Amino acid sequence: MAKTIRFTLDGRTVEAREGETVLEAAQRCGLRIPHYCWHQALGNPGNCRMCNVEVEGAAKPMVSCRLQPKEGMVVRSAAPAARRWQRAALEFHLVDHPLDCPVCDQSGECGLQDYYMDIGRYPSSLRDDKWHMGKRMPIGPHIMLDQERCIMCTRCTRFVSTVSQSHELGIFGRGHSQVVDVVPGRSLDNPYSGCLADICPVGALTDRDFRFQVRVWYLDEAESVCPGCSRLCSIWAHTSTRRPWHNQGRRLARLKPRLDPEVNGPWICDEGRYGFAGFDSDRLGRVLRLGRDAAELPWDAACDEIAVAWHRVVRHKKPEGLAVVASGALSNQDWAGFRSLFVDGLRLSRFLFAPEPDQVGAEDGLLRRRDKVPNLAGGRAFGFGAEIQSLTWQTLAEQIEQGEVWGLYVVDRDPLKVWGEKGRALLERLDLLVYQGPRKGLTGELARFRLPATAWLEEDGEFTDFQGRVRGYRRALEPLGQARPDWEIFAAIEAAFHGGGGL
Ligand code: FES
Repeated sequence: MAKTIRFTLDGRTVEAREGETVLEAAQRCGLRIPHYCWHQALGNPGNCRMCNVEVEGAAKPMVSCRLQPKEGMVVRSAAPAARRWQRAALEFHLVDHPLDCPVCDQSGECGLQDYYMDIGRYPSSLRDDKWHMGKRMPIGPHIMLDQERCIMCTRCTRFVSTVSQSHELGIFGRGHSQVVDVVPGRSLDNPYSGCLADICPVGALTDRDFRFQVRVWYLDEAESVCPGCSRLCSIWAHTSTRRPWHNQGRRLARLKPRLDPEVNGPWICDEGRYGFAGFDSDRLGRVLRLGRDAAELPWDAACDEIAVAWHRVVRHKKPEGLAVVASGALSNQDWAGFRSLFVDGLRLSRFLFAPEPDQVGAEDGLLRRRDKVPNLAGGRAFGFGAEIQSLTWQTLAEQIEQGEVWGLYVVDRDPLKVWGEKGRALLERLDLLVYQGPRKGLTGELARFRLPATAWLEEDGEFTDFQGRVRGYRRALEPLGQARPDWEIFAAIEAAFHGGGGL
């Protein structure tokens, strides 16, 4: 059994695990000791001296990020002497840090600002001008460097050497001219570069996408998971009414990693972090019947019309001529409704759910997975990929050409994108084309019925990751227009087939 060590911190008894430092034990127990250079995934170089504490019997200040507690040790992080040492370290860091908080994008989530207000509030003893360094340096596609703000905590250089192992950043110069910079001839373009804005405690590295878009105190947050691949990293979805391109009320402003030691630790990849850029583009918000008699419909009328259209065709064609194209982005709840409608209800047998070529991508040993859809594992639990095998795009095209398939129900996929121009002729041969999804895509233009579905941030749901873990996500945004979760749409159509009410 792992040994535990009992010590006292600020009057409270704390149990440290074997090998833990005082700072780590304090963090785990929710006690706050000021710190900059320590990071749970990047180690403790002990260079910022912000975590100085007083230890009973010790003649000197001790840095708590390197101090292993001993049984019965008495530690004080808020005693007058400890505060004096922490304040002195803070003043040293602020000597050359510009006081540009009103125009700094880190404002509101800045370690210097927070600690100054918590434990600083001293009058500045600086009489000379501050030292000036590089400002607004775009050092990669996602990160802006402001050398003046850097306090040399070295979290960023440790990240590129130990986590991304891409080694683009270094510390150059000595003494007062020491700066963080990119290695000559390199750019900060590793697949995890956005994490540098998360770990920089002082606004020296900021996110180019988010800079000056929203003040962080206008953000709300919801727990979610990233649907960019089957890893399903834990994230925070930050939402706001204030991001300039939002005109639909509260919408998504940025994604941040949510600490999850079993899945993603404190990191997410750039693909996931910035993949939301198109979240609100090309979105569907209205239920439509398209064609010569195009009209906007209420949900129940649309579901009834789809059921009538189906019955009209199956009077003279085989029911199994309706094929269904589905997406690996369906939640577990959606897959359940999907199976209930199409397999158990309509007894269909032609399904296509295999990933498209652009849904297979780069994989590495850190987080990124090859399959860029979140929930093929969830589909497998409902038989898709197990007893029900996926058609290929080629086979489906041939079956439409041969007249074996007379109708398509497409859920959040874009056959026209896969088949190219010949796809238009194929889709025009069909007796019935229903399109359902959050985005219109190319196929949505040709559908007879177009049904708006919610995107993952607009619903509660669950995915299953590639290791079989069920991962829940919460609704962070209102659905756009008439959009509904996919499972609700399947249930409403099933009810319409049985002659019951729709949505
Ligand atoms: Fe302990 Fe930096 S956090 S020295």
